[in-house]
Amino acid sequence: MSSKDSNKADATRLVEAGRRKAWTQGLVSPAVWRASTVLFDDVAALRDAVRHADEVLYYGRRGGPTQWALAEALTEFEPGAAGTTLHASGAAAITTALLALLEPGDELLMTDSAYEPTRVFCDKMLKGLGITTRYYDPLVRGDAIDALFSDRTKVLFMESPGSLTFEIQDVPALCAAAKARGVVTMIDNTWATPLLFPAIGHGVDVSILACTKYVSGHSDVMLGSCTAVAGPFERIRKTLQVMGQAVSPDDAFLASRGLRTMGVRLKQHGESGLEVARWLQQQPLVSKLFHPALPGDAGHALWARDFKGTAGLFAFAIHGDDAARVRLVDALDHFGIGFSWGGLESLALPMDPERCRTAVPWAAPGKMIRLQIGLEDPADLIADLARGLAAAQ
Ligand SMILES: Cc1ncc(COP(=O)(O)O)c(C=O)c1O
Repeated sequence: MSSKDSNKADATRLVEAGRRKAWTQGLVSPAVWRASTVLFDDVAALRDAVRHADEVLYYGRRGGPTQWALAEALTEFEPGAAGTTLHASGAAAITTALLALLEPGDELLMTDSAYEPTRVFCDKMLKGLGITTRYYDPLVRGDAIDALFSDRTKVLFMESPGSLTFEIQDVPALCAAAKARGVVTMIDNTWATPLLFPAIGHGVDVSILACTKYVSGHSDVMLGSCTAVAGPFERIRKTLQVMGQAVSPDDAFLASRGLRTMGVRLKQHGESGLEVARWLQQQPLVSKLFHPALPGDAGHALWARDFKGTAGLFAFAIHGDDAARVRLVDALDHFGIGFSWGGLESLALPMDPERCRTAVPWAAPGKMIRLQIGLEDPADLIADLARGLAAAQ
């Protein structure tokens, strides 16, 4: 199975990517290659394997065909990328990329809308290593972008949309300004995935996914990836090897299997999410929607310019206090209460972004709830939310 036709559509690529015959042995998908020790025919073969960076069986920590197939498939969705590293979780992908590209004395520009554990890593681990994090307004535009950088800035990190507050960043402008200064750019691209936002094509150097979400798609895998251009890719790969990180072939297998259906799932998540969001917009108790694909959202114009579609994760705020919000969420039947997102099932999460904003205070227009819209019938989800809103009155 050749996956080298760069003109093929994403749907075709989702089916074919990463399925090299050498790895599948003729099966449709690569099997789960479980390994620690690899046995060599002789010392010459062992020495030859040492010389290869990857894609030659060497030792279990370097992975095998199951992991290589997933990594290659993810690389194919980011034209311009040199390769993909796999990590034990999305959080591990983020922290490894930052550790690989930053050194003591450096400054990191981090979007104020970043996933909270990303902030904790910066404020605790990076600070302890003598690396300064400066948080910036995700809505920074135009000339103000240039003013962000200092002589010490080495990495600019984006998350667009922010996974709690859903601001869309001007990624091409941020990347152009960073590139002019030799600053490496990274994005947490988990919401859009490369299907909706091929980040490297928009100028980003490192595109990070929590594959735990849409790639795996069934809420049963923890996995992360960094797809990067040459330079950053080699540094991230060396760092993860030095740190002894490895991804199990079982998890890589499940993520590969999830990837095959990500296109149809994401489309459905997005469509159902928009239907639910439009309904919520009409409800008197709802004070605000946070969904970049809705006309009227602050990020809508940039979203329409840069994105190929919408995912199914968004938030809304209600008039009322926390007790009303708790009544709403507790009254829901079809929405689970829990962290993460991107799986089959819908989720509702009360959240308070003001707790983790420092560059620009977050003025919440009411009590906020984040919704992951799953693959249930949206009519059932809307009826559920109607029950919840009635309970919150
Ligand atoms: C936007 C975003 N990035 C990264 C992560 C971390 O991924 P993981 O849970 O696989 O560590 C999450 C998890 O919720 C997330 O929402």
